[in-house]
Amino acid sequence: MTRKNASLSLSKTIDRDADVVILGLTAVGGQPTLVGAIGDLEKSYHKAYSTPLRTLALTHGASTTLETAVVLPPTSVRVVVVGLGDADVTAEQLRRAVGAAVRTAMQLPGAEGLKVAVSLELAAPDLIRAAAEGALLGAYEPEVFTSKQDKPKVSTVDVVAAGRGDAREAIDEARVVAEAVCQARDWTNTPPNLLTPALFAEAAKHSLRDQRVSIDVLDEKALEKGGYGGILAVGGGSANRPRLVRMQYAPRGATFHLALVGKGITFDSGGLDIKPAGQMAGMKYDMSGAAAVIAAMQAIAGLGLKIKVTAYAAMAENMPSGTSYRSGDVMTMFDGQTVENYNTDAEGRLVMADAIARAALDEPQLIVDVATLTGACMVALGMRVGGLMASDDVTADRLLDAAEAGGEEFWQLPITEEIRSQLDSSVADMRSGGKNRFGGALAAGAFLHRFVPEKIAWGHLDIAGPANNEDSAFGCTPKGGTGVAVRTLVALARQLSS
Ligand code: BES
Ligand code: ZN
Ligand code: ZN
Repeated sequence: MTRKNASLSLSKTIDRDADVVILGLTAVGGQPTLVGAIGDLEKSYHKAYSTPLRTLALTHGASTTLETAVVLPPTSVRVVVVGLGDADVTAEQLRRAVGAAVRTAMQLPGAEGLKVAVSLELAAPDLIRAAAEGALLGAYEPEVFTSKQDKPKVSTVDVVAAGRGDAREAIDEARVVAEAVCQARDWTNTPPNLLTPALFAEAAKHSLRDQRVSIDVLDEKALEKGGYGGILAVGGGSANRPRLVRMQYAPRGATFHLALVGKGITFDSGGLDIKPAGQMAGMKYDMSGAAAVIAAMQAIAGLGLKIKVTAYAAMAENMPSGTSYRSGDVMTMFDGQTVENYNTDAEGRLVMADAIARAALDEPQLIVDVATLTGACMVALGMRVGGLMASDDVTADRLLDAAEAGGEEFWQLPITEEIRSQLDSSVADMRSGGKNRFGGALAAGAFLHRFVPEKIAWGHLDIAGPANNEDSAFGCTPKGGTGVAVRTLVALARQLSS
């Protein structure tokens, strides 16, 4: 399960060995204008590239529209021209455009081990970083479990830009972040029989082995001893026993303490309240929150950010059997509160509640949880936007800023008093769900909030929609697991670091 990502470098000129050169097309004063080191191409191939390239780009349909990329007819080097839009390009537009261009290059016949040069006349470090991230994220290929391993389509990405120190730093940061996102994607894409809670916990340990991150894995015995009633109830139906992984990164000089909590249901059958087959099919993705949190830890430590981060990944498999928990069961959670179980398919909030309550014991200033929590959130916001709920608007704004900086989309949803009151129970401290399916994402958020002590700020990211892209690839997002939330969490840690 160790991936070989494309290597990333920074050069001042386009290398003569490049197999593919990515150029941009923008509009200056209404005139289509090629962006990139055309001069380098002319030097290397002794041709006047500029005019024919511009004509070719236009006749082959490359437009300044974002994310449209075309391959020009064979010249000495294969040139992919991608639209950059006609206004000043933003970091996220660049990520998407470069991602789309790299994916276009990967579709070239015989594409294997390509050396890709990205030449877009970039100077600002945050744009260089975005282009590099977009290229590596676009070059991602999901692992295949065939006996014959294919070679990666892209072997190197070279960003052509003025090579000052801050540009080099931007490239290094892009590499760390993109590798973490690809790691999260790999875990999400792994078949559920190959990523049970125990195997997932081992994989987390392996991925953090070179980082200054301490990691403890609580197995089922430790969970019983600790009184993790939610995780044990959810994991009770499966022969693959649950785990709680605790990770901590505590660099010297850190002043802020952030806690991250991720949902790691390695397969969600629904349990006794079993899902129909069509809805169960994608449920290996139900561990995407945990994948994002572990991968974010890897990146935060890899970047050496000055912030203390404690992360929890709650791992269990939700299965129907004679040892399953039931609807109507009353569970005692880690913090001693009791919960009347509403539906065994609302399992995510139970494992998250235990992990959030445990995180609170570490007394962080802020807890952020990430979970593929509700189908209702997908109904509300579609497949590409995640839901965001928070204890207060300052925290919500912090997360929205981080999402924007990372190039991910979240939308704030309210947790209303009426929804909170739907969790009242006559037999326990609370019910695990609302009275009906309306506002289901909010009810789940309201439930989690009950496990956060008042003095700790809290944010909740429901990634049920954007964690898994069932359509074809777009921008720098592949089909399948997307690694969503990693970039937001890393940007948040960056913003809170000293
Ligand atoms: N893992 C699902 C949520 C989900 C659904 C994620 C579709 C991705 C795609 C979660 O555990 C679940 O089943 N939630 C139920 C809750 C309901 C029973 C209150 C849902 O959303 O239907
Ligand atoms: Zn479920
Ligand atoms: Zn679930």
